[in-house]
Amino acid sequence: MQRDRPRNDRPHGKGSDRRAPPRPGKKPHGPHARAHGPHAKPHGPHKPHAKPPAPRARPALPKPERPPVVIPPSVVVTFPAAAPPRPGEWLLTTRPGAEQDLLDELVLPPFSPAGPLPRLAGPALVAVPSLPKRDRPELAFARQGFPVAAVVAADDPRAPRRLAEALADALPIAQGRAARERGPQPFALDAWVPDDERENVGSAAADALGERVLGAFAAAAPRWSALRAADARAAWSENGLYAQLCVAGGQAYLGVSPARDAPSLAPGGRLRVHLPKHAPSRAARKLLEAFAWLDRAPEPGEVCVDLGAAPGGWSWVLLERGAKVIAVDPARLDPIVTRNRGLTHLRADAFRFEPEGTADWLVADMAWRPLEAAALYGKWARRGWARMLIANIKLPMRKKAEYLARVRDILTSSGWQGVRARQLYHDREEVTVAALRM
Ligand SMILES: C[S@@+](CC[C@H](N)C(=O)[O-])C[C@H]1O[C@@H](n2cnc3c(N)ncnc32)[C@H](O)[C@@H]1O
Repeated sequence: MQRDRPRNDRPHGKGSDRRAPPRPGKKPHGPHARAHGPHAKPHGPHKPHAKPPAPRARPALPKPERPPVVIPPSVVVTFPAAAPPRPGEWLLTTRPGAEQDLLDELVLPPFSPAGPLPRLAGPALVAVPSLPKRDRPELAFARQGFPVAAVVAADDPRAPRRLAEALADALPIAQGRAARERGPQPFALDAWVPDDERENVGSAAADALGERVLGAFAAAAPRWSALRAADARAAWSENGLYAQLCVAGGQAYLGVSPARDAPSLAPGGRLRVHLPKHAPSRAARKLLEAFAWLDRAPEPGEVCVDLGAAPGGWSWVLLERGAKVIAVDPARLDPIVTRNRGLTHLRADAFRFEPEGTADWLVADMAWRPLEAAALYGKWARRGWARMLIANIKLPMRKKAEYLARVRDILTSSGWQGVRARQLYHDREEVTVAALRM
């Protein structure tokens, strides 16, 4: 695959789903371990003194219900040279290092642009010449984004006034023709910088610029200004608009979209979740963020099966919500989870586990190869074992977007509906998928 810049993530050879399987836990787990020593194929009479292989134990590879390991075909694309976003284009931000994954996703169906291709626009930034205006599918690797209405040098003393004027022009355009006749609409404005490894040092300056823009806007457009909502979620709940100001590479990019069309309602797509100290694992943040993303979560008394549950962060979140939890993992769970009476822990292999009844939720954060994990979750849909799914799919390889497309296909063809996927703020080399079964 030709790429316009080198990847800096760690090499995984040809990106096969067969390689580098994340192992369950750090050590082999009792009944699931397979000793290679005595059962290993003998080296034969020709190598009588050959050193016997060191005894190794690893969890048995379970047989999926049907062979799911299909290596996605590679898409060969030469992306245009990197250049900053221009007015009329979309600016999208990603997790740092995931720019290529977003570019790849943007050239796969259902996006596959007929016109100019997307390009790298800076660290954690991608510029897209065009995106579908309506019914735009959700991009898994775009944390946040907006259509660029104006670009102004961030340190220009006239920047606040010029951006306020651009905001006054962009708000009614984003409103759409029908809504424009009703007059000004509630809106929110967030200023942000793309994520970087240096704790986003420009954030305070971006916030200050945002405040100055709002000050200049209040003077220029007092009727609109009076309708400013507390935040993007408030604007969304009133079917309003979301203005965004991204400061990157010395430029300030401003744009407005209907709040319901924004990839996220959090500034820069950074939906930070804070956990109490006694939470059994930081992984719990991923499930809490997934609930916020989906605007849906288990209710008290609902039955949740948690595959790959140890040390218990996800189970703890579910138990805190009053759900009944069946945690499936050969590894140990934190005592804070095991002492909860709503929990049943089965030290079993998720590939061999069969529930006794239908669960409300299947949640899974299992360290396993993505296509085989997807096939397992597909089996749950085909057998009617759960009504809703939230699963964290590990993607430690290149071509994440292609693997994710296969994961979506496997889930959809198994009967899961409304499959959604997103690299959440708390996800690393992984993507969260969600789906339901009618
Ligand atoms: C990332 S950890 C899960 C963290 C957990 N969600 C939490 O919040 O604490 C992945 C877990 O998957 C488990 N795992 C991997 N393969 C498994 C399998 N075949 N069956 C059950 N559990 C498995 C591992 O033992 C490990 O505990």
